[in-house]
Amino acid sequence: MKKYQLCSKEELNLEIEKLEKEYDKYKSMNLKLNMARGKPCKEQLDLSMAMMDVLNSSADLNCEDGIDCRNYGVLGGIEECKRLLGDIIEVPSKNIIIYGNSSLDVMYECISRSYSHGVLGEKPWCKLDKPVKWLCPVPGYDRHFAITEYFGFEMINIPMNSDGPDMDMVEELIKDEMVKGIWCVPKYSNPDGTTYSEEVVKRFANLKPAAKDFRIYWDNAYSVHHLYDDNQDFLLEILDECKKAGNPDLVYKFTSTSKITFPGSGIAALATSDRNIEEIENQMGIETIGFDKVNQLRHVRFFKNLDGVKKQMKLHANILRPKFELVLDEFDKNLSDLDIAWWTKPHGGYFISLYCREPVASFVVKDCKDLGLTLTPAGSAYPYHLDPDNSNIRIAPSFPALDDLKVACEILTLSVKLESAKYLYNNK
Ligand SMILES: Cc1ncc(COP(=O)(O)O)c(C=O)c1O
Repeated sequence: MKKYQLCSKEELNLEIEKLEKEYDKYKSMNLKLNMARGKPCKEQLDLSMAMMDVLNSSADLNCEDGIDCRNYGVLGGIEECKRLLGDIIEVPSKNIIIYGNSSLDVMYECISRSYSHGVLGEKPWCKLDKPVKWLCPVPGYDRHFAITEYFGFEMINIPMNSDGPDMDMVEELIKDEMVKGIWCVPKYSNPDGTTYSEEVVKRFANLKPAAKDFRIYWDNAYSVHHLYDDNQDFLLEILDECKKAGNPDLVYKFTSTSKITFPGSGIAALATSDRNIEEIENQMGIETIGFDKVNQLRHVRFFKNLDGVKKQMKLHANILRPKFELVLDEFDKNLSDLDIAWWTKPHGGYFISLYCREPVASFVVKDCKDLGLTLTPAGSAYPYHLDPDNSNIRIAPSFPALDDLKVACEILTLSVKLESAKYLYNNK
């Protein structure tokens, strides 16, 4: 088939009839498939089952400082766990706080604290006369945008380039004192799989925002989540760059073991400057006596060190890589000649972004739903769920089995073809 853009109305009509027959074939199969969320599959979860055996009723549950992990205490996390998570995100243990099971919760917590009590002596955001403004590189992570929407912030789209957010725009917008922060997923971003270049990281570290309480929310969720041994993205460490730039307090950096061990039962951490750590721990001491140290100990005894984590990530990659490659092959096979879509080819992380050339993403997602395939709703990767081009569809290949993934890709590419052909036919 030639490029749809070059087809006559008659040719498009014939193509639509053919595609609708295929559509009916899939409809009669009563499928139930899901590519909506970036969840590890069962085989990935099984990789961490041995972690359940490192502690038992006769285990010594004292951490290396001699503290009994079963009891209260140790607000910011046990030292060996700080070291392990610090090594994962290249930060000294003194600049780490260990939390509970979710980094998203830590991000919410940081915004909530800034909103109710302010940042390092600045006015709390809830007492400002106007709503806080927040920069949102797009497409981005829907749950980030949900947090800033929940607090009533005005979210401003920042286009993503192939090397990170449009920094000219960021540098311009932070001259406004009401701009208090930016969401960043700097490595293998959700959903494009982009890694910020060294130049972009340096420009971030050198920002001079008008607001003293402006913070970069640096969500390093996919720091060690490579798909390949040889083709790995490199991300410059930002806290160190901030220090060099004389901006040590500018960044809150987040991570978790959600996609290393068990999402929901992993460990989350925040890394930041000494001053920020002090302020946050003061507030934390009101909130809790300490998080789950037994889980911290369990993770450390399972991995031992960063090498242990890297070995585990290779096992994850062995499961994930064929899934990513299957999706990319199917897209190539079914879409590349037609010039109706393009897509990202990440070296890591959990997502592939598919972009429809025509504004049909919401119709594609609806068709897929009708055929039994659940996708992330169109627009999810944009603040307020508004994709200005109705183009982006986030693909999460990790959860379905390979056979299901192939059928899911057939349905998805069929729907992209059908909706693109219909759009072009109606606009001829
Ligand atoms: C960029 C990003 N940050 C955070 C999370 C959630 O992390 P956690 O399980 O630590 O809350 C996800 C999950 O998909 C994610 O993609």
